[in-house]
Amino acid sequence: ATQAAMTKAIQLAPDSWMPGGRPDPLIFHKHGHVGQPVSRIDGPLKVSGAAPFAAEIPLEGMAYAALLFSTIPKGRIASMDVSDALLAPGVSLVMTHRNAPRMATMPLFLTGAKAAGGDDLPIMQDDRIHWNGQPVALVLADTQEQADHATSLIRVTYQAEEAVTSFAAAKDNGTVPGLFMNQPLQSRNGDADAALAEAAHKVDAVYRTPRHNHNPIELHAATVMWQGDRLRVHDASQAVAHTAWSLAQVFGIDEDQVHVTSPFVGGGFGSKTLWQHQVLAAAASKLAGRPVRIMLSREGVHRMVGGRTVTEQRVAIGADADGRFQSLIHSGTIAMTRHNMMPEPFILPARSGYASRTMKLDVEVAYVDMIANTFMRAPGEAVGTFALESAIDELAVAMGIDPIELRLRNEPDKDPSTGAPFSARHVEEAYRSGAERFGWSSRGAPGSRKDGEWLIGTGVATATYPYYRMPGGAARITLSKDGAATIDIAAHEMGMGTSTAQTQVAADRLGLAMDQVTFRYGDSSLPGVVLAGGSQQTAAIGASVIAAQRVLVKELLKLAGNDSPLAGLKVEDVGGRDGGLAKLDDPDRFESYASILSRARRDTVVAEASPPPPLEMLHWSMHSHGAMFCEVRVNAVTGEVRVSRFLGSFDCGRILNPKTAASQFRGGIVMGLGLALMEETQFDERSGRIMNPSLAEYHVPVHMDVPDIEVMWTDIPDPHAPMGARGVGEIGITGVGAAVANAVFNATGKRVRDLPITLDKLL
Ligand code: MOS
Repeated sequence: ATQAAMTKAIQLAPDSWMPGGRPDPLIFHKHGHVGQPVSRIDGPLKVSGAAPFAAEIPLEGMAYAALLFSTIPKGRIASMDVSDALLAPGVSLVMTHRNAPRMATMPLFLTGAKAAGGDDLPIMQDDRIHWNGQPVALVLADTQEQADHATSLIRVTYQAEEAVTSFAAAKDNGTVPGLFMNQPLQSRNGDADAALAEAAHKVDAVYRTPRHNHNPIELHAATVMWQGDRLRVHDASQAVAHTAWSLAQVFGIDEDQVHVTSPFVGGGFGSKTLWQHQVLAAAASKLAGRPVRIMLSREGVHRMVGGRTVTEQRVAIGADADGRFQSLIHSGTIAMTRHNMMPEPFILPARSGYASRTMKLDVEVAYVDMIANTFMRAPGEAVGTFALESAIDELAVAMGIDPIELRLRNEPDKDPSTGAPFSARHVEEAYRSGAERFGWSSRGAPGSRKDGEWLIGTGVATATYPYYRMPGGAARITLSKDGAATIDIAAHEMGMGTSTAQTQVAADRLGLAMDQVTFRYGDSSLPGVVLAGGSQQTAAIGASVIAAQRVLVKELLKLAGNDSPLAGLKVEDVGGRDGGLAKLDDPDRFESYASILSRARRDTVVAEASPPPPLEMLHWSMHSHGAMFCEVRVNAVTGEVRVSRFLGSFDCGRILNPKTAASQFRGGIVMGLGLALMEETQFDERSGRIMNPSLAEYHVPVHMDVPDIEVMWTDIPDPHAPMGARGVGEIGITGVGAAVANAVFNATGKRVRDLPITLDKLL
């Protein structure tokens, strides 16, 4: 299958978007750094504590910030007494809406090329309260403890107004169609209701997923200072250039007056963007004339950094006698505030997953007075696959067909929503190899396997996440006369291995050793507006470096001149090799970078460029997939669920670094186990207050909850992606909820359609 896919990849390649219409040569490059399990180059700095995070940058004369949060969901601040706080030891400033500087609202994330804000509400500009947990005061003091204590001395009274805080009440008020990146979250193909009514076999059920809060281990933090009218921000960010631009809009200054850096991030998952804390810290620093460090408490993260919203999803599938889908309906409602643009897009997997004769997909929005939603690892797919892949399992049970077989009978040969051809799709191969490794064939009927009081079951589900490449990429390559290269791009390392994998890629592309390449990132002053999100950073960086390298090669060929073995060659004729350039089909025509630069009497050559727009996403349907296999043990007495085995078999194109990619897959699966079994924000529907804002009460998997997780992959390159690689960051969480739920059904005969699957639902 791999050989056939490679042949197909080569045949498809002439239509590639890439320069010269050829696929990236690294797609077929087998003996370089790409594909090697290189350990993280930032690893030693992290384990030795030498990597400074945003809340570890010491600045002269720095003050510590603490925040006070509103306790009502909607209304006005009636009174506020800060006198005791001002007299408390070490306190230098209490900032409220009365003395905060004038600031514009944050440009809302994904509404413009550089927008990064979580909401577009006024930030401490008036007495209005919009959600339970909104910051109403900021205290600056000489130590964190003094600041925390002083916030406890502030007395606030509120004039409450009627708020919509229950999902049911919000739905009763009427819903509106969801928009995701300005596109309606709606698909129609034929008459899905009629086809469902006529279908020989059908399932029709409602699945529910709760709110989830973000809990990266590194708390959200920023250390900020003003140098005149220039703002310097040490942030924990997955969007440095977006954040710099957005902060400039808030403070009414130029983009180049804001400098945001973020060299190390302790996890982001979609949450490390611009929220009110960076803005408030910068405002307080301006008032106090001192550098300010703000580090949210875990409660603070839950109060003022958005999460994944609640969903209620109906999935109805009608199939003919052979199990071929005649109707696929996936529709439902999510909760969102009016100051946000992130309706959890749970229909995305159904759009391209299955060949159904008819289709009807919808996401409706119900407005709730609450914190803004945000992206959380595989927004849409993480919870959408829970509903869709559970429903397919239910249909398989109803029809007595193996659930893998049922899925493969409905494999589409082109994108069911757009009609576009798939760039590369090897779902069948992922299932075949995964089933063999997992031992799927030994599966029993529901409730048939027991070990004492433990019921044992296995389940399967499809994982999926799209390929994205957002516009805005740009990179600079600086080649020096000793043959070393520096790559500069405003990209991010949140712990996923970006700097390591991209050093491998750049070294191969330039024909250099790993230690001759320096990859610089995490700095808004570097080229590009690159989001570490949507699992698209690898493609965005890859395409940017290709573009910069072509400019570099052109310049080098010019400098090499007529005395070089490279004389007369064009950019597309040569590639990087052994510390220089060589003709692709005649490597003896070679000159080293050192030789070219020394003959030209140059110390450095600098090339900067942006890649072409992401046309590949228009021409092709580009998606990664995985086959997720789970074995659970359910205690028949207590209802306790233990995941005993998990295997993810992925099809994500070429894997650039098997070591860092495996960690991404495993990390995603661990987060998926949390989604399946424990994560749940307890949102008090009377007050709109989050009741479990701590890791003591908001449960995530710990080591004892996680079995050995096996991961494997097809490694079949995608001819239309830079390096042949689609992203690996988010897909790991998808499909896990359904794989666990389907395994629980196989163990117990009980179908749980509400996440998380806690023991009370199994007794
Ligand atoms: Mo990811 S939720 O796009 O950081």
